[in-house]
Amino acid sequence: MTYGAFDDAAKEYVIHEPGTPLPWINYLGNQDFFSLISNTGGGYSFYRDAKLRRLTRYRYNGVPGDSGGRNYYIAEGDALWSPAFSPMLTPLDDYRCRHGLGYTIFETRKNGLEAELCCFVPQEYAGEINRLVLRNTTETTKEIQIVSAVEWCLWNAVDDAANFQRNFSLGEVEVEGGAIYHKSEYRERRNHYAFHSVNHPTVGFDTSRDAFLGKFAGWNNPRTVLGGRSADSIAQGWAPIASHRIHCTLQPGESKSLIFILGYVEVSEAEKWESPNVINKKPAREMMARFATDAQVDAALRQLRGYWEDLLSNYQVRTGDEKLDRMVNIWNQYQCMVTFNLSRSASYFESGMGRGMGFRDSCQDLLGFVHMVPARARRRILDIAAIQFEDGGTWHQYQPLTKQGNADVGTGFNDDPLWLVACACAYIRETGDAAILNEPVAFNTKPGTEAPLFEHLRRSVHYTLQNLGPHGLPLIGRADWNDCLNLNCFSTQPGESFQTCANYESGIAESVFIGGMFVLYAREYAELCRLYGDAGESADILAAAQRMEEAVFAHGWDGEWFLRAYDAYGNKVGGADCEEGQIYIEPQGLCVMAGIGVKEGCAKKALDSVKERLTTEYGTCLLSPCYTTYHKELGEISSYPPGYKENGGIFCHNNPWISIAETVVKNPDEAFAVYRRTCPAYLEEKSDIHRTEPYVYSQMIAGREAATFGEAKNSWLTGTAAWTFVNVSQYLLGIIPTHEGLRVAPCLPAQFATITVRRRYRGVWYTITIENKNPGGAPRLTVDGANISGDVLPLSGQSECAVQVVIA
Ligand code: BGC
Ligand code: NOJ
Repeated sequence: MTYGAFDDAAKEYVIHEPGTPLPWINYLGNQDFFSLISNTGGGYSFYRDAKLRRLTRYRYNGVPGDSGGRNYYIAEGDALWSPAFSPMLTPLDDYRCRHGLGYTIFETRKNGLEAELCCFVPQEYAGEINRLVLRNTTETTKEIQIVSAVEWCLWNAVDDAANFQRNFSLGEVEVEGGAIYHKSEYRERRNHYAFHSVNHPTVGFDTSRDAFLGKFAGWNNPRTVLGGRSADSIAQGWAPIASHRIHCTLQPGESKSLIFILGYVEVSEAEKWESPNVINKKPAREMMARFATDAQVDAALRQLRGYWEDLLSNYQVRTGDEKLDRMVNIWNQYQCMVTFNLSRSASYFESGMGRGMGFRDSCQDLLGFVHMVPARARRRILDIAAIQFEDGGTWHQYQPLTKQGNADVGTGFNDDPLWLVACACAYIRETGDAAILNEPVAFNTKPGTEAPLFEHLRRSVHYTLQNLGPHGLPLIGRADWNDCLNLNCFSTQPGESFQTCANYESGIAESVFIGGMFVLYAREYAELCRLYGDAGESADILAAAQRMEEAVFAHGWDGEWFLRAYDAYGNKVGGADCEEGQIYIEPQGLCVMAGIGVKEGCAKKALDSVKERLTTEYGTCLLSPCYTTYHKELGEISSYPPGYKENGGIFCHNNPWISIAETVVKNPDEAFAVYRRTCPAYLEEKSDIHRTEPYVYSQMIAGREAATFGEAKNSWLTGTAAWTFVNVSQYLLGIIPTHEGLRVAPCLPAQFATITVRRRYRGVWYTITIENKNPGGAPRLTVDGANISGDVLPLSGQSECAVQVVIA
């Protein structure tokens, strides 16, 4: 069953049924101000940091779910309904929710009154615009009241949800005309406030939640809304809100537009006050003046659309498969931008209170967006590198607002440093900007410790070499990519964090996965040294990569596939002799991507084992068989019921590694089949099983051994976005940025006879037409009519470059 449909021309997903299996959401904002918005108007907003600067409240565990958010009420006689369906939940005569790129539009209708609610965050603007247009399609005059309501969060989302003895006495507001100001804590240490405004005279307002709702009521039956009159309340502590009441008369055929703004304002210390205890509203008034008319809103919407057109134009493909095209051209790239902005902080599965920006997560996200916003990628690399320690290790996370490492989660995830190498190399291959290597970056954000970025990369690579275990394989530390394989934690106390507790520091648990990863990225680093640095270091690192490859072969090959790890007792993890968890996906992907065992036939063998033991119709499971009991020597992985999350779920993030690995062994059919199985657009008709949005990837799909096989969870903020885009754009469609230019090496099954890719690369527009005459074969390139030897397009001086490719 489907709940909507793709509108590719508009680049929208159009939902026609409010009761989607889960809230299907979208993101508004792309610089500093962000909002989450569901298909019934739920969600919340924040400035830069979902934990430290939360503007509006959201209840993750509330019942009914997804209530609150953008509350709008339309009252006409006895009829009372919401233009986004929620919170009133009154059945509508018509409902459509159009999730587009950076905006969401609700088109609804009740009793001949049409509503269009358009929500977006304009470019370079710290606020969300909600334009509500009402149109009377009947022959009679309509008298209507419109009520808005947003609930303020007291800025720090963690305190807001926990520190009630303080919270209940904090809230302060001011009301001036059509604007309500949330100035809680502004008197003391904050230099920011928020406002909710409307560009129309109001006939009432409320700022106290209790007065607005009344006793025993929720958002779907506020006393003031049912009673037809606002209380004009001023909040004194408790729960401050902002609600406006507007009256309007609509003649037959007449329409009316109201522009609501949820804005965020920062004021310098010297200009905080207009008069004693009265906040300086000048900047807020300026923000309101920028969106006081429809023409201004329309212009900002056009600008937003133009912005996305431009970003997405950097990689466009025509393959003849509309699902593939819409994922590559629109949704996968869009999701990459969202993960760039938010890492793993705020989604309907990430509360925005816990994890800030993950080190490895942000580095991998960069692989998916660097071609769209290279300048912002550059900034991001330098920010991430600054949370590295002098010994090459790194903080595991940082807060976007402060850019400081997050001490709660700490350090010691031994794959982290190598991801910095991966993303810096990807950035330089994309842009040619080797100057970034000379940028001074501090260690642990301490001024005075700056060293060139190149030195950070060097320490990353040497960190692995300085932390080897008894088999010459990398020590795993707290965990590697698989956060739940905690080989030194030995936790037996409920509530202990698997990621941070260390009850048995063995000093010997090793990761074959990091071994493969080292071979892959140490070679990239060696290439960087050869091109831009020290030839001696390059040779040394190539030799170290060779030694690692040998160690992986000698101690990490299990006969039919690669082992996963050695635990704290030196026992094998992920081997045929293990009782459970005999084979893991990660080392099969990364080791083959690194080229290990390709010549010897082991790579192919490992992938055959993946196919035989891990592959299902919904994707490739992380491991098999799943752990049925808790193993304290393995940690969190065995804490999940079989088939969920890292315990044998289909972890979408590492499916593309298998697909890429299949391209390495030149198996286009399976490479594409792996891609297709987890690709949401192909699962649209199975939305009742899959349940999450058909336009974005989820972190996990319940695996074969789970009771709800095929059910996805944790949509939006996942490294899956970047890795599937890397896979499909660079390996399946085969357009790979290298230091020398674009390499063209597609690996597609026979059903793709001819495809065209348009790719902007280092300022040049390449139009690449590929004829797939011998799937998996070697490409022959012609540029503007002239044959090219090899598969790398020489850097072009022209602005347009036409390339013909025949796979023969
Ligand atoms: C999840 C992992 C995640 C980790 C982060 C675990 O509970 O299963 O996927 O990486 O938490 O802290
Ligand atoms: C999600 C985390 O964000 C990511 O860093 C980790 O690699 C995966 N889970 C696997 O555990």
